[in-house]
Amino acid sequence: MLILGLESSCDETAAAIVSGERQVLAHRLAGQESEHRPYGGVVPEIAARAHVEALEPLVEAALADAGLRLADVDAVAATAGPGLIGGVMVGLVTGKALAHAVGKPLVAVNHLEGHALSPRLSDPDLAFPYLLLLVSGGHCQLLLVEGVGRYRRLATTIDDAAGEAFDKTAKLLGLGFPGGPAVERAALAGNPRAVPLPRPLLRSPEPHFSFAGLKAAVARVVGDYPPEDIAASFQAAVVDCLIDRTRRALARAEGATALVVAGGVAANSAVRGALSTLAADHGLRFVAPPLWLCTDNAAMIAWAGAERFAAGLTDPLDTPARARWPL
Ligand code: KG4
Ligand code: ZN
Repeated sequence: MLILGLESSCDETAAAIVSGERQVLAHRLAGQESEHRPYGGVVPEIAARAHVEALEPLVEAALADAGLRLADVDAVAATAGPGLIGGVMVGLVTGKALAHAVGKPLVAVNHLEGHALSPRLSDPDLAFPYLLLLVSGGHCQLLLVEGVGRYRRLATTIDDAAGEAFDKTAKLLGLGFPGGPAVERAALAGNPRAVPLPRPLLRSPEPHFSFAGLKAAVARVVGDYPPEDIAASFQAAVVDCLIDRTRRALARAEGATALVVAGGVAANSAVRGALSTLAADHGLRFVAPPLWLCTDNAAMIAWAGAERFAAGLTDPLDTPARARWPL
């Protein structure tokens, strides 16, 4: 089984081909960082136009990398939401056109499902159910992944996502865009105990996340401490919050076979290290996809497409693009 996957929901345009046996035959990606950098964040109109220009050449390049023709794929999977609606429409319409052209089924993939199932692409032994911390620029959730299409949400953020807080902190510290990797680099040279910062909802009986207060606190101390110390202290606060909330969710994650992390913030080594320790404390296996599979990419969309296709789940060509689409 060969699946072509397309991703265009934020600021990465991507095309990939994966097999049902977890082989990544091609994986192409075009970032738009230089186009958004002058604005310090993703500009939806610029993103949509860049997707239009980049997507078709990426599909052709991916097919060439894999030595395949479009007619060789068994289905076309495209992100159908959630995300910036202009970009989602570009990828979904392209996916529909390609699927229609060769008479193959369309699989409309929820971007979050792409992240949620991505650890099963890199780890063939990862079995359902597992507790997933999904941390990205737009989302911060704890999900019990029970099967394909079966996601029980145990917690979500009541304000900002963790990645958003990383990006805002980077902006406040003048570290540039995208912010997560820049904060992580700066934190390496800083003291994580130098700056007193809040840990919203730490040890709270309610399950959710909150990062708005932390973000505001960072804004208040900028200029009072070296940027490296602020970056390190901020990162330590985020890690404490993520670990505390995940520990709480573990108590409700009946039957979980592993603790799993996915999404862009899962690329952060402090986050990965702390989660790995938490998993070990609970006698659980810890699974984190390789870094390239954590941030947005099309291999995870192709893989989620493969899992859905194998389960008989395909979608009609009038499937709508959705800006909002909870899992
Ligand atoms: O999953 P993703 O590529 O896109 C969304 O679906 O949001 O996640 C992007 C987010 C951004 O907020 C980015 O700053 C953050 O992931 N990120 C990181 C790191 N790499 C990416 N945050 C912390 N440390 C990193 N190394
Ligand atoms: Zn994402």
